[in-house]
Amino acid sequence: MFAAFLLPATSADASAPLRTHAASRGKFIGAALATGPLANETSYRNIAAGEFNQVTAENAMKWDATEPSQGQFNFSGADAIVNFATQNNMQVHGHTLVWHSQTPSWVQNLGASAMRTAMQNHISQVVGHYANNPAVVSWDVVNEVFDDSGNLRTSFWYNTLGQSYIADAFRAARAADPDARLCINDYNTEGINAKSTAIYNLVSSLRQQGVPVDCVGFQGHLAIQYGFPNDFQQNLQRFAALGVQVRITELDVRMVMPRDATKDATQATYYRNVVNACLAVTACAGVTIWGFTDKYSWVPDTFSGQGAALIYNESYQQKPSYTAVHDALAGGSTTDPTPPTTPGTPSASNVTANSATLTWTASTDSGGSGLAGYDVYREQGTTDQLLGQSTTSSIALTGLSPSTQYQVYVRARDGAGNVSANSALGAFATTAGPGGGGCTATGTVQTQWATGYVVQPVTVTNTGTSSISGWTVTFTLPAGHTLTGSWNASLTVSGQTVTAKNLSYNGTLAPNAGTTFGFQASRPSGNTQTPSGYTCA
Ligand code: XIL
Repeated sequence: MFAAFLLPATSADASAPLRTHAASRGKFIGAALATGPLANETSYRNIAAGEFNQVTAENAMKWDATEPSQGQFNFSGADAIVNFATQNNMQVHGHTLVWHSQTPSWVQNLGASAMRTAMQNHISQVVGHYANNPAVVSWDVVNEVFDDSGNLRTSFWYNTLGQSYIADAFRAARAADPDARLCINDYNTEGINAKSTAIYNLVSSLRQQGVPVDCVGFQGHLAIQYGFPNDFQQNLQRFAALGVQVRITELDVRMVMPRDATKDATQATYYRNVVNACLAVTACAGVTIWGFTDKYSWVPDTFSGQGAALIYNESYQQKPSYTAVHDALAGGSTTDPTPPTTPGTPSASNVTANSATLTWTASTDSGGSGLAGYDVYREQGTTDQLLGQSTTSSIALTGLSPSTQYQVYVRARDGAGNVSANSALGAFATTAGPGGGGCTATGTVQTQWATGYVVQPVTVTNTGTSSISGWTVTFTLPAGHTLTGSWNASLTVSGQTVTAKNLSYNGTLAPNAGTTFGFQASRPSGNTQTPSGYTCA
């Protein structure tokens, strides 16, 4: 059976854990781990060790855990995680050295000079503790130093030390472990926006000054109700062009509870998209999920009414998001032969002269690669025109022509490139434009003979929603034809184009009202052509 050979992720391979597939793609797949369940739950330990080849301590390496009072270092939790990683051949990302949160008040209350010294000492001690440990390969040196507008966050660090604390922190980390990869990490930076651009500019300028910034972390705390940042891959790529490694450091995809199958499917698409973005960017080292089981997740405690953000449920069962991550890592998009279901009929709202919003009932995709988006077409006889693409079941169309009838349909695409059947046609007409658009003209040949013809009537109709006070009709006169007379309009000829303007008594037309004019022309004997291309403005 040939089809069996077309499915690379067939049974044996399909059951391979995430880390096997990730390693074969040259990436890590990681999880943030918490010390409590790591010590107490066999299922937690087995899945963590079996599925992931990278670990971040969810809390155990933060300042409040490692140096709760000045000069008193405690590595018990951090060491438990690093030892677990070492035993299971996983790499460790140290998180985090300098942050405004989970930092004891003794640090926050120091004066400038003492604070700078305390920061450098903390970095030196914590990074130094693991400098000779081959499992610990990278550090978040600074975390969340920008606010959402892309200004430096006015944290106690910034308020006491000014911007220089950032460069100082990187230099201290490099001194403590010359081999560790040093990262700057933040949230809401997945797409190209003011905040990610601020980080981009900072990283670029720090590196130009010789400050050792090696890597940029994108936390990836996403929510299905806010939409997927479609320029994520493009954003990763622009950072890669600075010469830094990029990584997704804290991926989770939350939803408004309760969980249901539709939300699970959307969530799976987000996970798949993130993994695929990392796979597509050479400089992306891998993806760390912020936990793995919904039993232990920061989401319900932090975002009221939201949860179910991870890839296993509370009973350690794999969710559709697990399959999405797995199949993306396994190159699963090529194994999906099933197109998405047909989208619903598009219906138009907010229609103006040049724009309209279309919405339709979403498609679903059961083939495994997941719904990737929709293509919206205008039906136009022989070749249909692609009006736009959307990743949601709605699109805002712009650049439309005024007073024009549109017949449109939608197709869904999945991650493997399969395309659904066309939806049923939806129709709408744009309104009249402000510039006097919104009229139509049609010409009827009333009578013709070998050397001439009469066109009567040319009907002019106001198709707009407001009254017009004048109209201009143009049409094309075939080569060699000559106008010999006209009535109810003033006609001028330039080349083959005839321009007909209203007279004083028939320029004003209420909406839907019409008027007529006519003309006569001569043509060479034997020529059977008549004018065409009537337009009205
Ligand atoms: C969160 C942990 O998951 C929680 O357990 C803790 O109470 C608060 O911090 N950005 C970060 C992480 O960089 O350190 C945060 O982790 C989540 C947001």
